[in-house]
Amino acid sequence: MEVVEKDKKQELKEFIDSVKNKEHGDSYLIAVLHKAQGLYGYLSREVMDTIAQEMQIPTAHIWGVATFYHYFNLTPPGKHVVSVCLGTACYVKGAPQILEAIRNELKIDFGQITEDKMFSLQIARCLGACGVAPVVMIDDKIHGEMTPQKVVDVINQYRKAEKKQ
Ligand code: FES
Repeated sequence: MEVVEKDKKQELKEFIDSVKNKEHGDSYLIAVLHKAQGLYGYLSREVMDTIAQEMQIPTAHIWGVATFYHYFNLTPPGKHVVSVCLGTACYVKGAPQILEAIRNELKIDFGQITEDKMFSLQIARCLGACGVAPVVMIDDKIHGEMTPQKVVDVINQYRKAEKKQ
């Protein structure tokens, strides 16, 4: 486990080095935060400290940028990550109602995790499946043509599968 964490840290440092001269200001920082979230699943205090050290900017600034964008998770994700697409195609086909149904069902808002740590919720911009909008992605699986009722059924399927394990 420790070896894996070390590898991730190394990869993050290499990424910072590789983009250092190409990007400027916060766009460079945002690219680094995306990379870190991809590696760790969320941005812990420790990860932010590493970035601060490598980029020589205050952790408080990184924290400010990370909290400004809904995309970034500051807490560990749930066992299943529910991403609701709010891209244009999904939005016009009812994504806000889908999001509302999920919020009511899981009793969390985006960026949060359910009490049982089973689900966390995030929003996404176009998951590349506009043809079957509105779309919800759970972990790596796309669920298309969602309705508020269908999305609750899908969540219940995940719950049932968990109980069987
Ligand atoms: S806008 Fe949702 S998949 Fe493209």
